[in-house]
Amino acid sequence: MSPKARDLAKSELVDLYLLGIGINGLSQITRETLDAIRRCRVVLHLSDQHTALKRLNKNTVNLDELYWTGEERGIVYQRIVSRVLEEVKRGPGVALVSYGHPLVFDDICATLRRRMDRARNRCVVLPAVSCLDTICVDLSIDYGDGLQVFDATALVNLELSMCAGIHTLLFQVYEFGEEGTADAIEERVERFRPLEAYLAGFYSDKHPALIVYSQDGDGEGPLKFRTTIRSIGKHQARMFPGVSIYIPPMHDER
Ligand SMILES: C[S@@+](CC[C@H](N)C(=O)[O-])C[C@H]1O[C@@H](n2cnc3c(N)ncnc32)[C@H](O)[C@@H]1O
Repeated sequence: MSPKARDLAKSELVDLYLLGIGINGLSQITRETLDAIRRCRVVLHLSDQHTALKRLNKNTVNLDELYWTGEERGIVYQRIVSRVLEEVKRGPGVALVSYGHPLVFDDICATLRRRMDRARNRCVVLPAVSCLDTICVDLSIDYGDGLQVFDATALVNLELSMCAGIHTLLFQVYEFGEEGTADAIEERVERFRPLEAYLAGFYSDKHPALIVYSQDGDGEGPLKFRTTIRSIGKHQARMFPGVSIYIPPMHDER
C-alpha cells in the first residue's frame, strides 16, 4: 500500500478530528495535526488561515460566515455544531480546525466531543498550543506557582470565588457581559464596572491587571499593557476580540 493510501485508510477510521493550529498562524502546529489535516476527506475551519490550510488539504471550507453574524453566541455555536455533524453524516474523515487548543475554552469542540461520544462516533482530539502556553512565555511566569482561569463573564455572573495568592487569567474579556459575537459589541464606559467591582472584592483597588494578547500570525499582537483592576474599562479602546487579562498574585511586585 502506498503511504498516501495508508493515510487515507487511517483517516477512514476517524469520523471527526478536533484540531488546533496553535496561536501564531501555523508556526506552532504539531506534526500529528499536520498529518491529520492532510489526510482528512474535508477540513472545516474557524481561523484566519484559510489559504495556508487549503495548501495542506484542497477540500478546506471556511466556516467564518456562520460565525460572524452578530447573533447570540449560543445560537452561533449551535449552528456550527450542526454544520459539522451534517458533514460527519456524509462520511468519516472530517476535521474541525480552530486556533489554539481544541479543548481549552472552546464550547463548540466540547459540545461536538460530547455529541460524538453519545452517538458512539469515532472522535479524536489532538493536543495543540493554546494561549495558556503563549501567555506564560510572554509574561515570563511559571504556572507552577498556582493558576486559576475564568471566563470573565462567568466569574461575575456565577460569583465564582477567587484565590488572590496565585496567577489569574481572565478569558473572553472583550465579550464581557455581552451575549453576541464580538463584531456586534459597542464600547460603553460602564461596561466593565461589574467586573472591576467584583475583582475589588478580592484585591486592593490599586492591584495590577495586565491586558495581554500573544502574537497571532495575522498582524495582531504581541500586546501587554498594565492598568489596575479598577481601571480596566478606561482601556476599552485599546482592547479587541481575543485579549485576556492577567492578574498577578497578591504581594507579587510584577
Ligand atoms: C474561546 S477562548 C479559546 C482559547 C483557545 N482554544 C486556546 O486554546 O487558546 C478565546 C479566549 O482565549 C483568549 N485568547 C485567545 N487568543 C489569545 C491570544 N493570542 N492572546 C491572549 N489571549 C488569547 C482570550 O481571552 C479569548 O477571549
